[in-house]
Amino acid sequence: MQSLNRKIESPASLPESLVCDTAANGWKADARRARAFSTAELERLFGALPGSLDRIYNACLGREPLRYRSLTGRQRDELLLEIVQTVFAEDLEGCGSHRQSQWEKGWTWNLEYFVASRYRLEALVPRYYKPMVPFRFDGDLYMAASRHLVRKVTEVFRTWLFERFFPEVKDIFEFGCGSGFHVARLAQLFPEKEVCGYDWTSASCRIIELLRREKGLRVAGGHFDFYNPDKDVPVESSSGVLTFGALEQVGKNFEPFLEFLLQKRPAVCVHVECIAEFYDPSRLLDYLALAYHNRRNYLEGFWTALKKLEEENRIQILAYHHQRFGNIYNDSHSYVVWRPL
Ligand SMILES: C[S@@+](CC[C@H](N)C(=O)[O-])C[C@H]1O[C@@H](n2cnc3c(N)ncnc32)[C@H](O)[C@@H]1O
Repeated sequence: MQSLNRKIESPASLPESLVCDTAANGWKADARRARAFSTAELERLFGALPGSLDRIYNACLGREPLRYRSLTGRQRDELLLEIVQTVFAEDLEGCGSHRQSQWEKGWTWNLEYFVASRYRLEALVPRYYKPMVPFRFDGDLYMAASRHLVRKVTEVFRTWLFERFFPEVKDIFEFGCGSGFHVARLAQLFPEKEVCGYDWTSASCRIIELLRREKGLRVAGGHFDFYNPDKDVPVESSSGVLTFGALEQVGKNFEPFLEFLLQKRPAVCVHVECIAEFYDPSRLLDYLALAYHNRRNYLEGFWTALKKLEEENRIQILAYHHQRFGNIYNDSHSYVVWRPL
């Protein structure tokens, strides 16, 4: 399957000033101007075949509409100014090995909330999903008119993606699994498979243990560092591999992990990541997204490396797609699916 051009929500945390509450500020949702995503629109957004989302949408959201609205010219200008100011701010922090302690802190918050809530899976939702935010879609900016719109679109997207690429594999490994948000979902979708979540934070590892012990899910996992992959992680030729907004964190230092995958030879590798090469810098929102991507030191050269491996007949690229959807800064849910040959 090849790509249509579109995109979803990003892991970058939004500035509080952009976390809009429709009742509390000037971004009041105007019910008359709000419209809902159709499943056909979501299919184009995800690069899915026509008709493939009807069952999944109903299973995830029932008949609940996902409503959003256009911005006025002035609101769009305000938002663009906020984006430009953030993208070109001197103190915008880049990713890298120095941020391990920040991830530890973030996932410790989810771990404590998970325990305090008596192991409600809702407690695992990463805090960068905000209830009422503007978002990017199809080359423009819009305002959510349904609460948790970006997360709910992500819910439909990940369910479709997981069911599309993982039904045949024996077990699934998510690297950079964070709060275990996807691990828990995968374990529910595929109760017959073992789902393994790996991350470099100890809070993540503890959450995985609790998912097994307290929720009875068939999960396992442990410590893993993209910069120095542990060769003993038991990925096999029948396994599926997932990264979701995680490989982005290593910038141009993805080679050790790519080499690890080439040696392990899993059945399929699915990466939901912001892919720099997919942007068209002659378009304003793509230009800004690429500038943001580069300032954050996000994943650099991964797609180019995969294309080279494909030319050398070492891998087969099964699917790729630029999803033009995400938070206001970038298109974080583009995906690439491949397998070693
Ligand atoms: C944006 S979060 C995504 C978490 C999860 N995949 C999700 O979508 O909910 C990025 C994750 O990558 C992990 N990470 C960043 N650098 C890493 C590294 N060098 N090795 C392993 N994990 C890393 C972080 O701890 C964090 O869990």
